[in-house]
Amino acid sequence: MTGNSLLPLPETLDPFVIGQMGQSLDGRVALPSGESKYLNSIGGLRHLHRLRAHVDAVLIGIGTALCDDPLLDVRLVEGKNPARIVVDPHSRLPATARLLREDGARCLVLSPLRRDLPAHVEQILPTRMERKFSPREILLTLRQEGLRNILVEGGPFTLSQFLETGCLDHLHLIIAPLLLGAGPSGVNLPPPLSLAAALRPGCQVNILEGGDVLFACDFNLTS
Ligand SMILES: NC(=O)c1ccc[n+]([C@@H]2O[C@H](COP(=O)([O-])OP(=O)(O)OC[C@H]3O[C@@H](n4cnc5c(N)ncnc54)[C@H](OP(=O)(O)O)[C@@H]3O)[C@@H](O)[C@H]2O)c1
Repeated sequence: MTGNSLLPLPETLDPFVIGQMGQSLDGRVALPSGESKYLNSIGGLRHLHRLRAHVDAVLIGIGTALCDDPLLDVRLVEGKNPARIVVDPHSRLPATARLLREDGARCLVLSPLRRDLPAHVEQILPTRMERKFSPREILLTLRQEGLRNILVEGGPFTLSQFLETGCLDHLHLIIAPLLLGAGPSGVNLPPPLSLAAALRPGCQVNILEGGDVLFACDFNLTS
């Protein structure tokens, strides 16, 4: 599938925040060692790159930056590389991280001020930061920076916080047909008191090239 046909994002929803996670049949997003490249098939990866091309910025937590050293670009599809954002309250991101490369896309680090990062890297401290930012405050801070439509790409800690605080409009879960047996799970939420109280977003299901299955969930719709 090509283009944005798999992106059921209402034109009128602006700003929007979309989460994405690739996981195994048994709900794991990585091996216990942290290895997660590449859990998904080429279809899953292309879909992720399409999402990146559709937003102003991609946001990850420092855990993912350290484990995966991702490029966060759109090399598998046509489009513009989004801005890259890392949430790093303890200044752990190496200055050599690949996402800090200078390629025309904005690079933002949410952390206390550091002097060792390249000059093109923007450092932002959300106002009420005490080593823990609320997702809502992060989004407001990014909007002030002109970044309105955001892809939260993980990892589990970061994505789950955005979900728990009601900050995601959409969640695209891409299930790969494999079993890992152990490893972190992608979405960790306090359990509902009963099944009737469970979060049930509206969902579209698509089979992607290579056999991955996309659950495109819309929290503005309920099933
Ligand atoms: N399969 C997939 O689609 C996928 C996608 C992404 C990542 N992954 C995998 O997930 C694993 C990493 O997951 P993770 O949950 O450990 O990492 P993560 O969510 O990327 O990073 C978590 C860390 O980011 C910081 N952080 C995030 N949100 C924050 C906030 N609101 N306020 C303050 N600090 C915040 C904290 O840093 P401090 O610890 O410094 O406080 C937190 O411990 C890796 O194995 C990676 O390969 C898989």
